[in-house]
Amino acid sequence: MKVLVTGGTGYIGSHTVVELQKKGYEVVIIDNLSNSTKDVIYSIEKITGVLPEFHQFDLCDEKLTKDFFLKNKGIAGVIHFAAFKAVGESVEQPSKYYKNNLGSLINLMSYMNETQVKNLVFSSSCTVYGQPDVLPVNENAPFKKAFSPYGHTKQICEEIIEQTGKIFGFKTIALRYFNPIGAHESALIGEFPIGIPNNLIPFITQTAIGKRDYIRVFGKDYDTPDGTCIRDYIHVVDLALAHIIAFERMLNNKTKSSCEVFNLGTGNGFSVLEVINTFEKVSGIKLNYKIVDRRAGDIEKVWANTQFANEELGWNAKRGLDVMMLSAWKWEMALKEKVRKLFN
Ligand code: UD1
Repeated sequence: MKVLVTGGTGYIGSHTVVELQKKGYEVVIIDNLSNSTKDVIYSIEKITGVLPEFHQFDLCDEKLTKDFFLKNKGIAGVIHFAAFKAVGESVEQPSKYYKNNLGSLINLMSYMNETQVKNLVFSSSCTVYGQPDVLPVNENAPFKKAFSPYGHTKQICEEIIEQTGKIFGFKTIALRYFNPIGAHESALIGEFPIGIPNNLIPFITQTAIGKRDYIRVFGKDYDTPDGTCIRDYIHVVDLALAHIIAFERMLNNKTKSSCEVFNLGTGNGFSVLEVINTFEKVSGIKLNYKIVDRRAGDIEKVWANTQFANEELGWNAKRGLDVMMLSAWKWEMALKEKVRKLFN
């Protein structure tokens, strides 16, 4: 059975392609490589023994999107990851984010509909909740005013999917990720930030390997036990597996409405300092860090109520913070080795 994965060479996309292939699905990837590289498909092949079919183009290009769907018949459904995701950049260049994240979704849904592809899994985010009033946050919590254009695009995309999906007669599932981290156990695929990382874990691993001098801990005056922000970190492989379950839920007609929404987290919150300590424990490396001012746009604390995903999807996040940090560290070391080989 053929599955289209947009953004399939990206961080979460590539891990999902691996799990789909392991279950025997035939995967077709569309990616414009704006934040990834083509060699990811060869790493996927090393892990699974199957080279995924790859098309490099931008889903914002309506003609190319139309041509793709007209030429590629027999797609059972789409898992849509392709989007820009840097919160800070979205504040500097909001139009870039609205055009890309909304434009690609609109084109995708239009031509899915024209060619009778009616199943869609969407990559959403806990950012849609803003700072929730109740923790752990469940799927019924209202959307709060978005903290960034990036977050706003996730809210709007969910609304587009709900409205358009109903009219087109689609089955749709939006998966709201908490903080995906870690890497595949093979250390052949992982998060590959271009330039200076924005996110905590790549910053930690790059500091540990000597690329960065120290980690800036953004704020120690939050209303949390140690004063640093709390997030619900989830292993990217656990996250990837939830996509396969969601996809099969649609194929097997198990969905209960045209647009379902699930939180994907572990249900456990960890502070920035707890994350740093865990990394130090599993890697045996002492990290340099400095407390600096709060980062604009950060929310204080968020973690998931995962009951709905656990019960309805029959899915549970299995990997703990130790495994997440160790896999991220192995991936960073593997990257260093790859670069060393390239230049020797
Ligand atoms: C944000 C978004 C999330 C999005 C992700 C992708 C929100 C609420 N979350 O996650 O939806 O998918 O970006 O980029 O908008 N930190 C440091 N030092 C650093 C980096 C981070 O102390 O150098 C702290 C942050 O203050 C935060 C935590 O680490 O408390 C996690 O930050 P990060 O990894 O950037 O993810 P979020 O901002 O939570």
